[in-house]
Amino acid sequence: MLKSLAVEWLPSILAANPLDLRNAVEKVVQSGIKQIHLDIMDGHFVPNISFGPQIAENVHKTYPSLFLDVHLMLARPDDFIDQFVEAGAGRIILHAELSKRIVSRSLKRLRDAACLAGLAINPETNVDVLFPYLEDEIIDRILIMSVHPGFSGQKFIASVLAKVEMLKMRYPDMMLCMDGGINAETATQGFTCGAEAFVMGASFFQG
Ligand code: DX5
Ligand code: ZN
Repeated sequence: MLKSLAVEWLPSILAANPLDLRNAVEKVVQSGIKQIHLDIMDGHFVPNISFGPQIAENVHKTYPSLFLDVHLMLARPDDFIDQFVEAGAGRIILHAELSKRIVSRSLKRLRDAACLAGLAINPETNVDVLFPYLEDEIIDRILIMSVHPGFSGQKFIASVLAKVEMLKMRYPDMMLCMDGGINAETATQGFTCGAEAFVMGASFFQG
């Protein structure tokens, strides 16, 4: 049912059983979805720790045609960009809540590495923080968090839909992706407001 919308789906293996990651990635491949979302957490920017570049590298080596969409929830993303690019990341998403110095430095690293970039905003963050960066040609999408980042399986925060609408109006050509609490119903709401890509954790791996 979820696949009936003509949009991009990005399964997040954060929601999979960590002892069974190979089967989780296999499930993505078997479903015909060509990309996977990796949630990387440092215990500082978010109150949880997940996995590092080695997981990305292993997924990439085993499934080289799977596009790796890497969501860095790190206080110092620039420390890890080169490792994730080397591990096979196709796109790296940074949080716009970080200082301008860190975001700009990270975007420069991504530009030098010719890696696509995304910018993410948390539910309580105003869309204005994105504006200084959106002229950069390597930014190919905005990730609008629809839960407080850190954990899979949380409830969708519907108030963020207003931000999706606002961004769609101001940047009609920018791909808008929603992340957190996505299922058939919430994806339909997001799509109606202008989002065309959706991260799926629990609804894909536990649905
Ligand atoms: C939240 C992560 C999400 C999350 C999505 O911190 O960025 O990608 O794993 O999981 P669900 O879809 O279960 O909310
Ligand atoms: Zn994510």
